[in-house]
Amino acid sequence: MINPLRDVENRRRMIMEMGGQEKIEKLRESGKLTARERIECLLDENSFVELMPFVESRNTDFGLKALPADGVITGYGTVDGRPVCIYAQDFTVLGGSLGEMHGLKIAHLLDFALESGIPVVGLCDSGGARIHEGVDSLKSYGEIFRRNVQASGRIPQINVIMGPCAGGAVYSPALGDFVIMTKNRGCHMFITGPKVVGAVTGEKISPSELGGWEIHAAKSGNCHLVAENDISAMQLVKKLLSFLPLNCDESPPVVNTGDDPMRRTPEIYEIVPEDQKKPYDVRELIRAVVDCREFLEIQPNFAPNATVGLARIDGKSTGIVANNPWFYAGCLDVDASDKIARFVRFCDCFNIPVVTFVDVPGYLPGVEQEHRGVIRHGAKVIYAYSEASIPLITVIVRKAYGGAYIAMGSKHLGADIVYAFPTAEIAVMGPEGAAEIIFKKEIEASEKPEEVKLEKIEEYRQKFANPVRAAARGYIDDVIDPQYTRMRISSALRILERKQRRKKHRNMPM
Ligand code: HXC
Repeated sequence: MINPLRDVENRRRMIMEMGGQEKIEKLRESGKLTARERIECLLDENSFVELMPFVESRNTDFGLKALPADGVITGYGTVDGRPVCIYAQDFTVLGGSLGEMHGLKIAHLLDFALESGIPVVGLCDSGGARIHEGVDSLKSYGEIFRRNVQASGRIPQINVIMGPCAGGAVYSPALGDFVIMTKNRGCHMFITGPKVVGAVTGEKISPSELGGWEIHAAKSGNCHLVAENDISAMQLVKKLLSFLPLNCDESPPVVNTGDDPMRRTPEIYEIVPEDQKKPYDVRELIRAVVDCREFLEIQPNFAPNATVGLARIDGKSTGIVANNPWFYAGCLDVDASDKIARFVRFCDCFNIPVVTFVDVPGYLPGVEQEHRGVIRHGAKVIYAYSEASIPLITVIVRKAYGGAYIAMGSKHLGADIVYAFPTAEIAVMGPEGAAEIIFKKEIEASEKPEEVKLEKIEEYRQKFANPVRAAARGYIDDVIDPQYTRMRISSALRILERKQRRKKHRNMPM
């Protein structure tokens, strides 16, 4: 007589063999972990509980047989003692392709995570829709996407691209909050691969040129963080999770970092040049202010003229947004606008206060920007700050000109506390441009136009391009000595801890 328990365990053993030793060896040769090893690498030891391991494909067309776990492992466990749901696509099983049941397992996990109020991590390694299963696999994609949207802004969704991510496979990551890409061989994301691209457009391009990590991290903006390999990707996920609450109704964890919230920051005098034209890297300013100089920059290579990322101040998770004058003078352009708007909205979804450092000459002028829709994209920044009901603290470092002054977390859009350094210049435009326009006739009529121009520039600077005029109107709360930046922000974060939240929203991709 068959022992039922032994029978189940035998079946389970076969499932654990995944796509077979040969396929596993091939995976190892390319330096990758198996799907199960990836899960173990992320989760606390022995914390993984697998759900639905016995699910198998219902389709038998084109000789399709039952596939172990239908090519995806789903379940839950803990990371640093905090719960998380996880799925890992198994490339050894028909290239991690998404068949009907594979997709329904992921959809079920998303329901489970949303009901339980815990984050979902997806480890993606998939050739896309399982071609054998036709429309059934498309149906399952749709079921996943709908749940991604329902979960958006309610539980954090993090996806790691660890191998191919082709066709329909790209959209679930794109609907989530963060995409991490590894530098693994064969790791790329595209809707249509090089062969189809070649056939349709005649363009010849390699998979990595079309959708490798370098492209998505710097050009398309689809990727938020890059990891050297599978192991460092899992470490990055742990780090990211450590900043986030489990869901939108909770606060992020507070960590005792040991860094004194009242610590002075005199190094800012050295970091920020008084000369408005001299560039500096705003990330140095950010590191000086945050706890233990630790700053997890998001999308560092995409639109680097804007810097966004997560840090802790007084142990509290804080979203940091800044213009970075090191790149293109820190102007706001199409990509920088999208980057800032999405990050502010993400923080607003998950109760993470935002500190904004402003040094912006304005929206980037030019035909290319206007034609790409800088109006529409720029509006997103205004929208995001105006909509946000998390604590908003803004520090105007140097330039805050024109529409970009308003957009970058100004008092007028709802910032709770706005400080300015004595070097701040708050004006409709830079003194040079302003003087040339309003004193045009005087300058032209003068015998020494250059001298008059310089005089007028200085006159304008004295009147408007300093923080006092704005402070007199109440547009900023105080002009502060830079060495007190950290303590002022720490104090603001404490007083705003109980700020009442308005209605929640989702985190739409932009
Ligand atoms: C079924 C697939 C598959 C797929 C790969 N396989 N992709 N099976 N459906 N989509 C199978 C292969 O046949 C092979 O099976 C095994 O997985 C490993 O694949 P290889 O090609 O040997 O591996 P590799 O050389 O590393 O190439 C991986 C790959 C390539 C880049 C992913 O397989 C590929 O280009 N696949 C098709 C990608 C694609 O066009 N996807 C779009 C699908 S349409 P054996 O048995 O030999 O091991 C789509 C639209 C949905 O997704 C839209 C929804 C919104």
